[in-house]
Amino acid sequence: MAEFSLPKNSRVTKGKHCPAPDGATNIRTFRVYRFDPDDGQNPRTDTYDVDMDTCGPMVLDALINIKSKMDTTLTFRRSCREGVCGSCAMNIDGTNTLACTKFIDEVKGEIAVYPLPHQSVIKDLVPNQSHFFAQYRQIEPWLKVDTPPPARERLQSPEDRERLDGLYECILCSCCSTACPSYWWNSDRYLGPAALLQSYRWLVDSRDEDAGNRLDQLEDPFRLYRCHTIMNCTRTCPKGLNPAKAIAEIKKMMVLRQV
Ligand code: SF4
Ligand code: SF4
Ligand code: FES
Repeated sequence: MAEFSLPKNSRVTKGKHCPAPDGATNIRTFRVYRFDPDDGQNPRTDTYDVDMDTCGPMVLDALINIKSKMDTTLTFRRSCREGVCGSCAMNIDGTNTLACTKFIDEVKGEIAVYPLPHQSVIKDLVPNQSHFFAQYRQIEPWLKVDTPPPARERLQSPEDRERLDGLYECILCSCCSTACPSYWWNSDRYLGPAALLQSYRWLVDSRDEDAGNRLDQLEDPFRLYRCHTIMNCTRTCPKGLNPAKAIAEIKKMMVLRQV
């Protein structure tokens, strides 16, 4: 008979509660997913009452505050703190986003912080992104040319350069792919919105001379065509990009090259 409940060892249990320091009056509570592969325990959620008078305005500030003042074992990725590196992507208040650009004040009540969905968890808020980046490598994200290099650089007109706007800004945070139901079901074969947006970035680059091969690589029932225009990707992108549109444009290129 089909089993509809989670296996026992994957149920998330209630963990510890860390109160705010004595005298704190401006408090926000964070409920944070915790998982340590080495302790043999189920994942749990710990709650931390953060003194907002000693904390910056972003969710990443609160995580750093928790780690430095309350619980040094909390593990998460971050680097730039400016929405540029993509490493602090996580699920906050039910939405995939960047912890460093998410204002705490945007969330009402307790703030739930989980790792990105769908990817396996290495520890706490750190997902395993090996597969995601392997798919990025698969689209060969570099300029491919046959013609010999000019004496100086390969030039682009301002209009051609503009075609890359809305594409080159992608920071590969994977918020979009891990929010995509088609990717949840078929991520072994469907490239997902992030890799496809990146692929389109090279397909429309006026300097690139490999569009035919690039399209051939996507001509497959799964790699491209598993996108069903559900739009979760575009809704969640913390950089305001539109991967669903990029995918639709690739599909259009596929059709146009047949006529
Ligand atoms: S398209 Fe947006 S959500 Fe997707 S990887 Fe790029 S920046 Fe992140
Ligand atoms: S539009 Fe396509 S890529 Fe975006 S969430 Fe929907 S199925 Fe996934
Ligand atoms: S820390 Fe770099 S994007 Fe958040």
